Amino acid sequence: MDDLKDKYLAAIANASDESALEDIRVQAVGKKGEVALKMRELGKMTPEERQIVGPKLNALKGEITSAIAAKKAGLADAALDERLRSEWLDVTLPGRERRQGTIHPVSQVTEEVSAIFADMGFSVAEGPRIDTDWYNFDALNIPSHHPARAEMDTFYMHRAAGDDRPPHVLRTHTSPVQIRTMEKTGAPLRIICPGGVYRADYDQTHTPMFHQVEGLAIDKDISMANLKWVLEEFFSAFFEVEGIKTRFRASHFPFTEPSAEVDIQCSWVDGQLRIGEGDGWMEVLGSGMVHPKVLQAAGVDPYEYQGFAFGMGIDRIAMLKYGIPDLRAFFDSDLRWLRHYGFASLDQPNLHGGLSR
Ligand code: PHE
Repeated sequence: MDDLKDKYLAAIANASDESALEDIRVQAVGKKGEVALKMRELGKMTPEERQIVGPKLNALKGEITSAIAAKKAGLADAALDERLRSEWLDVTLPGRERRQGTIHPVSQVTEEVSAIFADMGFSVAEGPRIDTDWYNFDALNIPSHHPARAEMDTFYMHRAAGDDRPPHVLRTHTSPVQIRTMEKTGAPLRIICPGGVYRADYDQTHTPMFHQVEGLAIDKDISMANLKWVLEEFFSAFFEVEGIKTRFRASHFPFTEPSAEVDIQCSWVDGQLRIGEGDGWMEVLGSGMVHPKVLQAAGVDPYEYQGFAFGMGIDRIAMLKYGIPDLRAFFDSDLRWLRHYGFASLDQPNLHGGLSR
């Protein structure tokens, strides 16, 4: 019995993990273990012998069992210690150097544009980037055969054969938000609609996703003169140059009549573009008086109301204002570019503090 005890206590002490301990338990005090075998021999003993050997065997069983339990607890403690050691964290170490994020030029310029137009009584309206071709085209007086539909290099959403839901597109411009807002609020109204738009196009000045801001003012006595004033106010505030001149060139959009492309005054000095001076012109937006059919499609009575609309590239005016050469870099997520062209997060643009400190 002493041999058994020494053997097993030594084995328990040396066990390196729980499964080794379990093997020892089965061998020693399991149903067919060595202690059980010894207990079976009790039957062959005389009652006197049994009275001495029985309690001793029981004590041996108890001793082995509690040694195993103690070792098990020890192993668990050691595992915990090991985990605590390896996962230990010195919270008194200095933290990682603070890195400050920046505001993307598109976000910054969207804020600037919104602040300027808010000052002129325009609120911000938004619409979905995935829209039906009715909102993107038909309601804007672009029927299915119209070449503008192809010119806009539209991304159509996939439709399985037999799926006859109306076709959806990635909106090619922010003009569908005109329709959605007029449907919702009726006239009169004054809104701008900034947001992402999509066209299949890619080079230094075109990316498949870019940003526009739509303007729409509908009331009972609105004319192109109001449009020109609003745009000149806007550009002077945006480029922070007093009295920027605009030039309206006759153009064509199916959703405006008459239509005009608008240029702003600029000059090139030593290869440097200056907005708001000189006698050069830079095209910046499309505009016009909202076509009566568009008002009608959106549930506004064209005999009672009329108004102007314009659409302008946000990324494009950001490039002009902040001298950013390549549009593609806007969407590359290159941290060096973002650090260079980004804006401090706490400098919210507003008209009084200056738009672009
Ligand atoms: N939607 C036109 C475009 O994307 C711009 C535009 C908007 C023109 C509103 C006139 C009026 O090119």
